[in-house]
Amino acid sequence: MAKSGQLRVGLIGTQFMGKAHSNGWSQTGHFFKSPLKVVKQAICGRNEERAKDMASTWGWNSVETDWRKLVERDDIDLIDICTPNNSHAEIAIAALKAGKHVACEKPLCMNKEEAGRMVKAARDAKNLLNTVWYNYRRVPALALAKQLVDEGRIGRVFHVRCVYLQSWIIDPNFPAVWRLDAKTAGSGAHGDLNAHIIDAARFITGDEVSEVVAHAETFIKERPSGEMAGGLSAAKGGGAKKQEMSKVTVDDAVIMLARFKSGAIGTFEATRFAQGRKNGNKIEINGEKGAIEFGFEDMNRLKFYDASQPARTQGFIDIMATDGSHPYFGAYWPAGHIIGYEHTFINQCSDIVTAIAEGKAAQMQPDFVNASKTQAVLDAALESSAKRKWISTDC
Ligand SMILES: NC(=O)c1ccc[n+]([C@@H]2O[C@H](COP(=O)([O-])OP(=O)(O)OC[C@H]3O[C@@H](n4cnc5c(N)ncnc54)[C@H](O)[C@@H]3O)[C@@H](O)[C@H]2O)c1
Repeated sequence: MAKSGQLRVGLIGTQFMGKAHSNGWSQTGHFFKSPLKVVKQAICGRNEERAKDMASTWGWNSVETDWRKLVERDDIDLIDICTPNNSHAEIAIAALKAGKHVACEKPLCMNKEEAGRMVKAARDAKNLLNTVWYNYRRVPALALAKQLVDEGRIGRVFHVRCVYLQSWIIDPNFPAVWRLDAKTAGSGAHGDLNAHIIDAARFITGDEVSEVVAHAETFIKERPSGEMAGGLSAAKGGGAKKQEMSKVTVDDAVIMLARFKSGAIGTFEATRFAQGRKNGNKIEINGEKGAIEFGFEDMNRLKFYDASQPARTQGFIDIMATDGSHPYFGAYWPAGHIIGYEHTFINQCSDIVTAIAEGKAAQMQPDFVNASKTQAVLDAALESSAKRKWISTDC
């Protein structure tokens, strides 16, 4: 039963995203005028010691070790899912059935079939929030890009060019963690990184990918067994015993060509083998009247080219999206006093609280229906790579 004036959050998962979201829920009311008081009611992790440590570090009121118990608790209003991809559908559906709002990490789930079941559960739940943490939508510069495209400032879109480049598993001794196991992650760089840039492209253009052709590659096919150990670091398993090896069952890199419904064309590249790149999430969109360029490693800036300017002064302008007039930034600092990765989660927490307080929980974007379209593109790309041909997304 919702307690008036409060949003009581139960978070599942205690590592990378568990930390990012704990910070988001902690900070949102400090920067945004929050219509509901966020209560960090419970954190859930299979490792009780770690969950207790997170609770004391971030101020969670209680600890659970079984997500099913958390979902059934009547002092929780929202379930925040920060666990590996193979658990998203089961937890989200159970939480919606138990009458809880749900905020689920990306990718939405493992495949289109699970996405369909999640969408049905969200529809059946009627007025409950069902959102996915495609947090890059909440980077002020990227949200500004969407505004400019919506205002027609770049006109008809011809090209969408996206890359998401990381390098954290180039070492063949980096262990075969859950992110490299198809049964737990679904796919590799594809569902992890292409998911973000497909979502960003759909968000900024308002267009849908209709058809794709893709190639998936796994460069290192076997690695020492091990587990994630916070952020993107890992620990080898096996102690002093002989090191066990595990097969890598996901892609290390996926490249994809795409056709959009509007007739625009796009390229997407996701890899964990781009030596020299740590978190190179970049998007460029070229239209008839202008262009935009964004790179997350310089996330406070948006480059904008306006072809209506006189030829002798035409060129990309470098907008520092840190003014009160830019999306989200007014909640923070004077212009030029930049923000970072964690603020994308703080911003999304604020949007969640506002949507619920205003009775618009089910309209919060991206919802499961919206995220299922990114899932459809991901699935089509893997099918294309396996069949060596163009595949329709049915979007
Ligand atoms: N939005 C983003 O920018 C972003 C970034 C990284 C990861 N993610 C997504 O967040 C999710 C979690 O990734 P991560 O990097 O935090 O992983 P992680 O390995 O750092 O943490 C996963 C956590 O889930 C816990 N867990 C696993 N199964 C569980 C279960 N059945 N019950 C309770 N806890 C369980 C693990 O013990 C661990 O605490 C993934 O879906 C990933 O794709 C999103």
